[in-house]
Amino acid sequence: MEYRDFGKTGEKVSVIGIGAWQAGLKSWGKDYTLKDVIDAIKISLDYGVSLIDTAEIYGNGRSEIVLSDVLKEYKDKVLIATKVAGYNATPRSVSKAAERSRRRLGVDVIDIYQVHWPPSIYTDLCGLAKELERLVDRGIIRYIGVSNFDLQILIKFRECFRKYDIVSNQMQYNLLIRSVEKDLLPYMKRENMELIAWSPIAKGALAGKFKADTMAKKMDSVFNRARKAHKLFDILRSLSDKYGCKMHQIALAWLVSKGAIPIPGAKRPSQAIENAQAGDLKLDYDDVKLLDNVTQEYVYIKMGGIMSRIIPNWLQKIAISILGGV
Ligand SMILES: NC(=O)c1ccc[n+]([C@@H]2O[C@H](COP(=O)([O-])OP(=O)(O)OC[C@H]3O[C@@H](n4cnc5c(N)ncnc54)[C@H](OP(=O)(O)O)[C@@H]3O)[C@@H](O)[C@H]2O)c1
Repeated sequence: MEYRDFGKTGEKVSVIGIGAWQAGLKSWGKDYTLKDVIDAIKISLDYGVSLIDTAEIYGNGRSEIVLSDVLKEYKDKVLIATKVAGYNATPRSVSKAAERSRRRLGVDVIDIYQVHWPPSIYTDLCGLAKELERLVDRGIIRYIGVSNFDLQILIKFRECFRKYDIVSNQMQYNLLIRSVEKDLLPYMKRENMELIAWSPIAKGALAGKFKADTMAKKMDSVFNRARKAHKLFDILRSLSDKYGCKMHQIALAWLVSKGAIPIPGAKRPSQAIENAQAGDLKLDYDDVKLLDNVTQEYVYIKMGGIMSRIIPNWLQKIAISILGGV
């Protein structure tokens, strides 16, 4: 596993992390057990992964609770990143949400506390920034991150901060969705902010699985695109022959070559091992270019995220609580 600097924090982090949405045991089907997913997380840490991502809404807090057991053993070796739901990202609610996450995770301090999606337009953004800074000062969180913030809202939110800066932005980024490359990623590179890539293997589509058979997969339109991307899959197959690895390992290595940190989710140890092993894979310059060229049209896909801004927080909260988390 290779390691790199995590933006301006002074921390080192593995080039590939792990996502723990699957540990919520809610949206990813019934073909795996709690033990499978715990073993998957533990083994990826044994393979050198040092960034774990979760969120308060994954399994309605269950993912964070599951991680608390893992963290007892591995806390000093990993950065733990969790997320406050957009509807709790308000000056009034964020501190309580952070305390709850910290308790569920069983840690003294949350390393990276991310705003899961841009809060609604009725939220006082600068009031929220102030509360996040107070959480850092109180030692509840170490670094402030965001997620699903396009360039415009990222710049607007960043201007609110007086003492600390936003260190990272977590975005959907993979070979089939490259919208971040248009303006967000260049800006973040210039500003030394980290782009954490969610759904880095397109929820399994880049492993060649095109059937949207779970709730998590059904919510993502990427499967339709994947089914039509014949040229991309021809190239992925030939590159996996060349490098002696799997297609999704090529997809992860491509993201690393772009300077992003992919956080693939895994349901079982065999998946976690393959994903972590992609941290040793370096693609030749010409192969990165080949993949860039065949997926160029996906740079111009529109970014999602507008809905969360116009739906009031109370309504978002009711919707997620009826679902019992995601
Ligand atoms: N910030 C956000 O809004 C946001 C949104 C989504 C996700 N995330 C975070 O990003 C993480 C990763 O995203 P994701 O889980 O949506 O998508 P992903 O990492 O692209 O795909 C994960 C899924 O792909 C399949 N898979 C994983 N490794 C595999 C392997 N080696 N071989 C074959 N199949 C494999 C598994 O599903 P099957 O076995 O069912 O095929 C797994 O559940 C999440 O866990 C979460 O922490 C954040």
